[in-house]
Amino acid sequence: MRRKMVVGNWKMNGSIATNKVLLDGLVAGVHGYDNSDYVVCVPYPYLCQAQQLLQDTNVAWGGQNLCSTKNGALTGAVAPHMLTDYGCTHVLIGHSERRSQFHETDDTAAARFLAAQQAGITPIFCMGETAEERESDWTDYIVGRQLDSLIRRFGANVLDNAVLAYEPLWAVGTGKPATPEQAQEVHAFIRDRIAKLDYEVAASVRILYGGSVTGANAEQLFEMPDIDGGLIGRASLKAEDFVPICRAAHATATRCLATAKP
Ligand code: 13P
Repeated sequence: MRRKMVVGNWKMNGSIATNKVLLDGLVAGVHGYDNSDYVVCVPYPYLCQAQQLLQDTNVAWGGQNLCSTKNGALTGAVAPHMLTDYGCTHVLIGHSERRSQFHETDDTAAARFLAAQQAGITPIFCMGETAEERESDWTDYIVGRQLDSLIRRFGANVLDNAVLAYEPLWAVGTGKPATPEQAQEVHAFIRDRIAKLDYEVAASVRILYGGSVTGANAEQLFEMPDIDGGLIGRASLKAEDFVPICRAAHATATRCLATAKP
């Protein structure tokens, strides 16, 4: 059975003082919730602080991007080993904000994805369509193309040590989440497309939903059969907002485990 997972993406938010309050509250809030996984992806300057406050807890930490090459003359870039130096286990790859505002493409996202894995970091690969693309019935085409940039290029096994995230752009930061049914439909599409290449990989890869997830809607989303947790932006910035989402994952996982038992 796939473990539920909740990932906080702080984006460009935080300060030494506010991070401490948030992380202390998060660690206290998820203590003992051991049937699910919790990760925070923080801005680079705060990786050291995250490492200090989160080591030996059940919350992991990671970066929001990385460069696909190692050391070199690349001003402003951060190499994979720099993330592992600070204990990062995860990194976001191909977030829609990176694609739309920093001109990242399927090709550069694929290269970063591979570089993360080669450094022993689990990539969390983001996919999603715009409102216009959805209205034109292009959701499957866009998400399929983004997924294919990995699985057609590298083979489905490349997802063995990876997490996928479906984040429709029309739901990111808008306060208007996809309905559980809308999200489930795309998650099932993603899983089916992987299954055409490798059934076992499709059955085991975790697919998170992201886009205006809150404590009020998380449980309904996480109960859907192909939604394995959430990638959370705004609601990951305060422990009082984020912990209820982690609790929803834990509660859903607890119910799944109870019904799976003979
Ligand atoms: P919001 O939760 O703020 O909609 O952001 C989602 C997101 O982009 C997470 O990566």
